[in-house]
Amino acid sequence: MEKKPFYITTPIYYPSDKLHIGHSYTTVAADAIARYKRMKGYDVYFLTGSDEHGQKIERKAKERGITPKQYVDEIVASFQSLWRLMDISNDGFVRTTDDYHVKAVQKIFKKLYDQGDIYKSTYSGYYCTPCESHWLERQLVNGCCPDCGRPVEIVEEESYFFRTSKYAPQLIEHIKTHPEFIQPASRANEMLNNFLLPGLEDLCVSRTTFKWGIPVDFDDKHVVYVWLDALSNYITKLGFMSDDDSMYKKFWPADIHLVGKEIVRFHTIVWPIMLMALGQPLPKQVFGHGWLVLDGGKMSKSKGNVVDPVKLVERYGVDAIRYFLLREIPFGADGVFSNEALVTRINSDLANDLGNLLSRTVAMIDKYFGGYIPEHNEYVPDEDDVILSLAKNLPNAVEENMNALRLPECLQEIWKLIGALNKYIDITAPWVLAKDEAKKARLGTVLYNLAEGLRFAAVLIQPFLTRTAPKMFEQLGIADDGLKTIDSLEFGKLPVGTKVVKGEAMFPRIDVKKELDELEKLFPTHVEEKKEEKKEEKKPAKEESKSAETIEFDDFAKLDLRLAKITACELVKKSDHLLKLTCDVGGETRTILSGIRDFYSPEEMVGKTVVIVANLKPRKMCGMLSEGMVLAVDNVGDKLSVLTTDKDMESGLKVR
Ligand code: ME8
Ligand code: MG
Repeated sequence: MEKKPFYITTPIYYPSDKLHIGHSYTTVAADAIARYKRMKGYDVYFLTGSDEHGQKIERKAKERGITPKQYVDEIVASFQSLWRLMDISNDGFVRTTDDYHVKAVQKIFKKLYDQGDIYKSTYSGYYCTPCESHWLERQLVNGCCPDCGRPVEIVEEESYFFRTSKYAPQLIEHIKTHPEFIQPASRANEMLNNFLLPGLEDLCVSRTTFKWGIPVDFDDKHVVYVWLDALSNYITKLGFMSDDDSMYKKFWPADIHLVGKEIVRFHTIVWPIMLMALGQPLPKQVFGHGWLVLDGGKMSKSKGNVVDPVKLVERYGVDAIRYFLLREIPFGADGVFSNEALVTRINSDLANDLGNLLSRTVAMIDKYFGGYIPEHNEYVPDEDDVILSLAKNLPNAVEENMNALRLPECLQEIWKLIGALNKYIDITAPWVLAKDEAKKARLGTVLYNLAEGLRFAAVLIQPFLTRTAPKMFEQLGIADDGLKTIDSLEFGKLPVGTKVVKGEAMFPRIDVKKELDELEKLFPTHVEEKKEEKKEEKKPAKEESKSAETIEFDDFAKLDLRLAKITACELVKKSDHLLKLTCDVGGETRTILSGIRDFYSPEEMVGKTVVIVANLKPRKMCGMLSEGMVLAVDNVGDKLSVLTTDKDMESGLKVR
């Protein structure tokens, strides 16, 4: 069967600065989408590249006493090595200094000129060199560039203009009738209300005051305006207006242009109008994502607060950084980068939830079944159904979120299964089952379900965590590529008898405090003097990005945690792991049954002051009523410790 084409692009980056973690965000997001679509069987073309012309680059090269081309070559090489480092699977890399691009842009310019859509006139107005943007006086904010806030220059020159105004009505109509064209929808309204409906000015599309650009071939005093040059990359790379345009025929129109919010304007106004004038179809979607911010401001080199992706990857590994970027930033909105958020995510989601789950599962299969995935024929609906139904629905849940480009939600869905699998271990307590030969079949089923659940997670995290998925397959003993596809996600396909392979911890735990001290020295994530005044701004973004997982204080306050002194303790005869504890809770006597017998003798428990959940609904076990729960920390059956206080405190006191 012919594969369906899917074309996704990132912006092409300016080689004027080193890339920071904010740039990696766009590219990692596009990469995850591209990889997912490949897994779904699409013929994907994923394009990124570099935007190498313009006055800014000409000036920087001059400062360093080298040619602009020498200057960009060096930086572009560093982009390419960063993308390799971050496992970016781009199919093409376009450079605007590439020959095919230069030629095609000249043809595009000439065609628009010949048909009267580009005309010559005089430009006078303001120009923001860092942004390579023209502005009218009324558009300036406090006399500065409305996009970046930096000072603008007054320019007056003979220029070519693009008759964008002519196409505005057609574009307005397109935006109104294609709600999917500009996403998120709020950005469509912004474009309509701020730019299109008030009336579009014709765009100045050539410059004569510098040389580093694509020459207008019929008037070589002029170079093509860098945005016209840059936007064309999306089609020149596919061979548009060249001798071989088969790629263009196959992949255009693009399915997604993924861009940062500050350049949505160019991609949803200038670019579609260029395409309309060329008589070409418009991209299906322009998605404007938010910024990764530090202390309330966008990262940029000029602000002196760059976070170097290379250093981060060297320290934590590619997947930790990819996971953080994709999980932490609500797609479409701004998200806060902080060392603390990064380290916390690595520890809780990767080291604890995922890493531990895999190593516990593999260790138990090793210990109880000699390392072979056991038979699974003792199903317990109450315990197993949660896992089975989460796993069954997971591919669809990921698909739906992916189609809406809700990347953090894709990961959240996968982590729901991971969380449920961890809980499943607690509920089924395999180490207890292992003590009883009669429960061997049940133990096997539990371990099978864990391993199969982990396979589901591994298959679906492949587009996001490129290095972790193969490690998971390896430890689970899955070599057959047929078991790594989305199509293979039918629960029970993991073959019984597969030999698991114990491996290293995928994500070693980090000592948070020590790490943060070191990180603050290496990559200070705030600019000192701004710290105080910006605090307020930082809060909303942080809350927004965490809301899915944090709880309100009121939720916590629902728990009535209290100290309880154990006054008597005995074995529960009908059970082999329960202890019956008689506790004094501030004068009130309670009976609590607790499954800690493998770790504590009744004698050891008497006299201890432990922490209990006092308002847990009483529950009948082995014919007795248990009125609460003792809190304990465990480590997969190897160790267990009940919680106590480190000073002598009276029973009945509230824990909070
Ligand atoms: O705009 N958080 O290039 P660029 C999130 N050459 N995204 C960020 C970011 C941050 N802190 N900082 C930058 C250009 N980006 C043009 C594009 S396309 C025809 C020409 C994103 O190098 C930014 O939003 O300034 C943009 O999407 C991309 O990096 C490239 O930025
Ligand atoms: Mg920019």
